[in-house]
Amino acid sequence: MGEDELERKLNKKLTEKEEEREKDYDLLKTVEEVFDSFTVRSLYELARRLGIKRIGGVVSSGKEARIYRGINESGRELAIKIYLTFSAEFKKGIYKYVMGDERFENAKATTTKKLMSLWAKKEYSNLKRMYSARVSVPEPIGYKDNIVVMEFIGEEGVRAPLLKEVGESLDDPRSIYDEIAEGLRKMICRASLVHADLSEYNIMVFRGKPVFIDVSQSVLTTHPNSEEFLRKDISNIDRFFNRTYNIEVYGDTLLEELLRCLREEKRGRGQ
Ligand SMILES: Nc1ncnc2c1ncn2[C@@H]1O[C@H](COP(=O)(O)OP(=O)(O)O)[C@@H](O)[C@H]1O
Ligand SMILES: [Mg+2]
Repeated sequence: MGEDELERKLNKKLTEKEEEREKDYDLLKTVEEVFDSFTVRSLYELARRLGIKRIGGVVSSGKEARIYRGINESGRELAIKIYLTFSAEFKKGIYKYVMGDERFENAKATTTKKLMSLWAKKEYSNLKRMYSARVSVPEPIGYKDNIVVMEFIGEEGVRAPLLKEVGESLDDPRSIYDEIAEGLRKMICRASLVHADLSEYNIMVFRGKPVFIDVSQSVLTTHPNSEEFLRKDISNIDRFFNRTYNIEVYGDTLLEELLRCLREEKRGRGQ
């Protein structure tokens, strides 16, 4: 190898290294100032595993979780949901969604951190089950500790609006309602899950279709309160559609149909 070539190679190496550092810096900039070291560590591990190259702006900042936009190596946009705090009241509230769900009720969550991690894992598992049953939800991509990574619903950094935000300007409320009903059929009869926090605030409208989000509290149909949760979900949707649009809703017949599915499942399990 001639000296010129060697130099070129060395230079190239340097440049690549610099680029790497630059990328790391992007990631670092956002995360290190805001998060505790536990979350930073989990985020780095997840970023390495999933090839996340950059973490951008905050998409949403709720009471318990914050959602960031991320970008992976191939330029795909991601939504990164990070659980940050659980108040005593919230902890009390989520207890019933963990107990009674046979997948999680034996888990030991003795600290807030462990409970947040359990909650994130529950969200990821629920997304997986729903996504496999072809329910319209963001594709689950990965999770670690208190962080869930999923498909970003939106385009070029702009998230899609919630059903609540579209409100009266929704193009075709009839077909959105039908698609929500169809989504619930798949969710309950195929994925054996009840959303349990369904409303116009947890449905996004993307490319004219509803997308269900926020599924951490969703429970198996065998959960002792699954019927009660399902009734509430359907009545929330009906109330919103009745109030906002001039269409006929059919939540009552839908509920009957879905309860049959749900009860069949319970009977099958000898409950
Ligand atoms: N996959 C996603 N892609 C884009 N935006 C999302 C995604 N998931 C959630 N969001 C946005 O973040 C907000 C909060 O997410 P959500 O899962 O409902 O958490 P919270 O528990 O804070 O209600 C949503 O209202 C929505 O605006
Ligand atoms: Mg929500």
